[in-house]
Amino acid sequence: MKKLIAVLEGDGIGPEIMREGIKVLKAVEKRYKHDFTLEYAPFGASAYFSEGSPFPDKTKKICDEADAIIKGPVGISVEKMNTIPQKMRPEAGAILPLRKRYDTFANYRPVRLPEALAHFSPLKKEIIGSGIDILMIRELVGGIYFGKKTEGEDNNMKFASDDCVYTEEQVRRIAVVAFEEARKRKTLMTNIHKSNVLATSRFWNAVVEEVKQDYRDIEYKSVLVDNAAYQLMINPRQFNGVMLFENMQGDILTDQAGGILGSMGLMPSACIGPEKGYVEAAHGSAPDIAGKNIANPYSMIGSIAFLFEKIFALEEEGALIWNSLFRLFEEGYTTYELAGGKSGDKVLSTTGFGDRIAGYVSGS
Ligand code: IPM
Ligand code: MN
Repeated sequence: MKKLIAVLEGDGIGPEIMREGIKVLKAVEKRYKHDFTLEYAPFGASAYFSEGSPFPDKTKKICDEADAIIKGPVGISVEKMNTIPQKMRPEAGAILPLRKRYDTFANYRPVRLPEALAHFSPLKKEIIGSGIDILMIRELVGGIYFGKKTEGEDNNMKFASDDCVYTEEQVRRIAVVAFEEARKRKTLMTNIHKSNVLATSRFWNAVVEEVKQDYRDIEYKSVLVDNAAYQLMINPRQFNGVMLFENMQGDILTDQAGGILGSMGLMPSACIGPEKGYVEAAHGSAPDIAGKNIANPYSMIGSIAFLFEKIFALEEEGALIWNSLFRLFEEGYTTYELAGGKSGDKVLSTTGFGDRIAGYVSGS
């Protein structure tokens, strides 16, 4: 397969975890005789300082021409961030515009905790049992994140508002994605909402339940988001399968899921639109540990697995990377943050982790 890939390294630990992701990508390219051309482009806070924009025009052009985009985490320390005007910060000026530009409405965040990784979780062993395997699917370009924002004054009373809007089509297309995934995996599909309070949630449910008529073979549950947050801690395995969220509820509960895994460093992500998609590590740029070669590149390498699986439809390549990631932990290796900030024989550096995965992928 011949593909042009845009690479946005981002800020903080972005460039170093990206190097390991690309190392693994190249190992797969070699083994399966693909032909990838990589185009690096500035993105995030570092792009703001070097180019005057966190999502410069030249980066947009490279992304427009690419078949897929690989993105590292963005963001800098609070003090430095405060020197950047609101609209130019990585969230408002880069991430949300990237999602909007390619209409990447389907966000996949896997919560995979097989027994080999169970000891990283703060949850008790008996709660994890035979393992957690949830695919969280979050709507990514609608709802309160993209609604009208007002900071105003009325009759001398200051106020602010964020509109939350969902159209029927926006809900339908993400519901179809979630049901299709549940059918493929032959699992439960749990729809999360806040319909006891929000009109948008009642509307969301009505559309999801209409789509459900085409998926009568799929086991379906509907759970309020606050209860889901609770249940995820008490008995996460009950959700094994697919969970569907609107944008903001999904943002919050996918981070909670990172906590269940024991580290956001174990949370890759794919953001897919009708014509283009990108993959990214779902966590922040951890400026405090940048450049120390201790960051965990799992989420970036898992995102490369997603690139193969979800964007290039090369499932075998994706599965090989996933299995390599689990194998590394099965062999007793770990990373600095998972080891509680201690070093040791089996504690891998960022580059050591990537070398090992690239080695497994190449067949050693
Ligand atoms: C995420 C992030 C983003 C979000 C921020 C950085 C805009 O938290 O991808 O989960 O809220 O979607
Ligand atoms: Mn988030």
